[in-house]
Amino acid sequence: VNNTDGLAGFPKYKIANIKDIQQQLSSGCPVYFFAYPLTNEPCFLVDLQVLLGQPVPEIPNPYYGQYAGPLGQMKTISGVGPNNSIYAFSDVCVHLGCQLPAQVLVTSENNPGLDTQNSVLHCPCHGSLYLLAKGGVVIGGPAPRPLPIILLEYDQSSGDIYAVGTNAPYFSASIPRTTPSDNLLYDPRYDYSVPSNPSCSKG
Ligand code: FES
Repeated sequence: VNNTDGLAGFPKYKIANIKDIQQQLSSGCPVYFFAYPLTNEPCFLVDLQVLLGQPVPEIPNPYYGQYAGPLGQMKTISGVGPNNSIYAFSDVCVHLGCQLPAQVLVTSENNPGLDTQNSVLHCPCHGSLYLLAKGGVVIGGPAPRPLPIILLEYDQSSGDIYAVGTNAPYFSASIPRTTPSDNLLYDPRYDYSVPSNPSCSKG
């Protein structure tokens, strides 16, 4: 059994309503945290159009064809919301599992946090840099693979946003494991907290 087969069976949860995001944006915070699929697995929504100042109706799926699950066959991933520009990512670095400070808004890649001018998220532990607008690909540092994306669905009539799956395991095979078949989707040795909303701070 491939220990990533579980990606095909992720649940569908409501994670926010569009009003929550709009409230965040009006407070100057472009990210919104949620837990998925477990209550201690932090992820965040981000409106890339707000960050980049231009329409971002889709981003590449760097894991296209690599894993089973709802995202495995998608070459690109569409944003949700009124402008099709809201995306979601895991908030756990795939290098050695540090929680990413996506709520710390910075303008320089020399500071850990989210560079809001170009959508680069910087891990404070060993300096990995993820480019969100290109699907979370690694543009610097030791991360061995892109930041996992959470697939979203949007109900236009209610404004509800759902998480329905992910394109890759959150945890990395580079994290020392007890046995080679340890699950890459959930690692009980790590315990994360999901930042409350709004939680943005200027770096
Ligand atoms: Fe993020 Fe090492 S844990 S760069």
